[in-house]
Amino acid sequence: MKIIGMIASPRKKGNTAWVVNTILEGAKEQGAETKSWYSSDLDIQPCRVCLCCHGDDQDRGCVIDDDMQELYRAIEEADAMILGSPVYMGQMSGQAKIFIDRLFAWISPRFSPHYQEQATKKKLVLVFTQGNPDPAMFREYFDYTKKMFQLLEFDVRDVVVVAGMRNEPAWERADLEPAMKEIGSSLVPEQIP
Ligand SMILES: Cc1cc2nc3c(=O)[nH]c(=O)nc-3n(C[C@H](O)[C@H](O)[C@H](O)COP(=O)(O)O)c2cc1C
Repeated sequence: MKIIGMIASPRKKGNTAWVVNTILEGAKEQGAETKSWYSSDLDIQPCRVCLCCHGDDQDRGCVIDDDMQELYRAIEEADAMILGSPVYMGQMSGQAKIFIDRLFAWISPRFSPHYQEQATKKKLVLVFTQGNPDPAMFREYFDYTKKMFQLLEFDVRDVVVVAGMRNEPAWERADLEPAMKEIGSSLVPEQIP
């Protein structure tokens, strides 16, 4: 089983990266193959609405020649994705939004054979980290984002909200590591002995 992490935070050693990587660690301990992608290492340009991915030429996909091409392949090969974003001004980061907009090509005719088959639905865990200590503060926005991914035919397994990051970084919260690892491990189907 392949699981990728997409860390849409500019801080490679920040809360979001730590949470996503700890979830991946839990999955890896159960035998999953994992890889993290950091938006800060990637050139991901905004969607240009050229509509090449929705045009008559059904095999073109997204034509923007940037690092998203490698990510499209990684997503296609993955069984699950962990997408993490810090909360900025009550919403996801700009980096996360640009990445998600580029999934527009995902629902292109190029991908539709996969798109319609239940069996190939990708599992998705959404991770949000925030400074505010109240995890319910942006609940409506998180629910809305979950719904949006369900419409994109992802099998949304969890929406993880890690709150209170203003004064205490995620890695200093003793309860978090086992809880995050458990989420990762639950994504990996049990091996039949
Ligand atoms: C530009 C900016 C905007 C932010 N807006 C919010 C916000 O609206 N609500 C909140 O609870 N935290 C907010 N925060 C705090 C971050 O969400 C929080 O520190 C997060 O864990 C940072 O993730 P990182 O360590 O991966 O960078 C903001 C931080 C920044 C830099």
